[in-house]
Amino acid sequence: MSKTPVRVAVTGAAGQIGYALLFRIASGEMLGKDQPVILQLLEIPDEKAQKALAGVMMELEDCAFPLLAGMEAHADAMTAFKDTDYALLVGARPRGPGMERADLLAANAQIFTAQGKALNAVASRNVKVLVVGNPANTNAYIAMKSAPDLPAKNFTAMLRLDHNRAASQIAIKTGKPVSAIRKLTVWGNHSPTMYADYRFATIDGASVQAMINDQDWNANVFLPTVGKRGAAIIDARGLSSAASAANAAIDHMRDWALGTNGEWVTMGVPSNGEYGIPQDIVFGFPVTCEGGEYRIVEGLEIDAFSQTCIDKTLAELQGEQDGVRHLL
Ligand code: NAD
Ligand code: LMR
Repeated sequence: MSKTPVRVAVTGAAGQIGYALLFRIASGEMLGKDQPVILQLLEIPDEKAQKALAGVMMELEDCAFPLLAGMEAHADAMTAFKDTDYALLVGARPRGPGMERADLLAANAQIFTAQGKALNAVASRNVKVLVVGNPANTNAYIAMKSAPDLPAKNFTAMLRLDHNRAASQIAIKTGKPVSAIRKLTVWGNHSPTMYADYRFATIDGASVQAMINDQDWNANVFLPTVGKRGAAIIDARGLSSAASAANAAIDHMRDWALGTNGEWVTMGVPSNGEYGIPQDIVFGFPVTCEGGEYRIVEGLEIDAFSQTCIDKTLAELQGEQDGVRHLL
């Protein structure tokens, strides 16, 4: 017997990440090849955006995906999030000319407060939320704080793109396949301060750190390459990463829903005090997933260099949180 369809809400559905994401969700790459989905797509009410969304939906229709059990266009979060089981919050206000970081935070705080409230009011009580729109960690924190009736642990931010970027850089450096890398993680904020950490990573059981054995490469090549990759792509493409961001969103949700078989992945999740990160800060941690739940990998040793890196990315997140506190 076929499974009951689940509801997947996607915001910013007519944007560039949306265009790389929706077709993969509808083809079963996110929730499994046996799981029908109903897409609940949200865009701003603007006529141009809604028209573009209608075009994307025509294309989805033209794919005749067997798993696409329905789709809806929305201009209001209160209808888009009705009964939704999964919510991918991609749409966000981009930084405009002359806009300061504080203005960006404030503009997005409004969006994610409203969307958090809407999720709180109408979504499934078990909704799994992934925030992609930047600043992703702080937007996830705002949505979580605006949804007091939903479990805080159901609000997550996307660090998976940083994780995947780190894995590829290690594969290139070691000449080993990316699929062989285990126990990699990225701590902190989805921003250049994130700390990609391969101290625990292995390839075929051997230590990656011992294989690379080059702290100078770690500090002066690897970390800046991964941390500034988003900016390098914007510089090269004239647009921010989209296909790789959509791919990371698929990876994040798939692993959360279907499990990681004991392997580590990175998710931005609200802290419960692990590794000294204050309660509720949405922070990149190593996690394993099973039965639809993630669990932070605990008990890892944090050396002095790593502690400095973690303190830096935490301080940035706390600064962002202070910047929006009055809006919550
Ligand atoms: P885009 O501008 O192409 O698309 C964004 C879409 O969101 C637009 O169609 C816009 O109309 C819509 N939108 C804006 N506000 C909305 C709202 N309140 N409700 C619903 N829709 C809304 O941008 P993109 O390239 O698709 O990127 C989307 C976001 O993802 C950006 O904030 C970008 O910085 C971020 N991003 C995050 C990561 C990550 O790793 N976390 C990676 C890449 C991009
Ligand atoms: C990315 O990491 O590619 C994006 O978050 C970059 C950006 O600033 O939009």
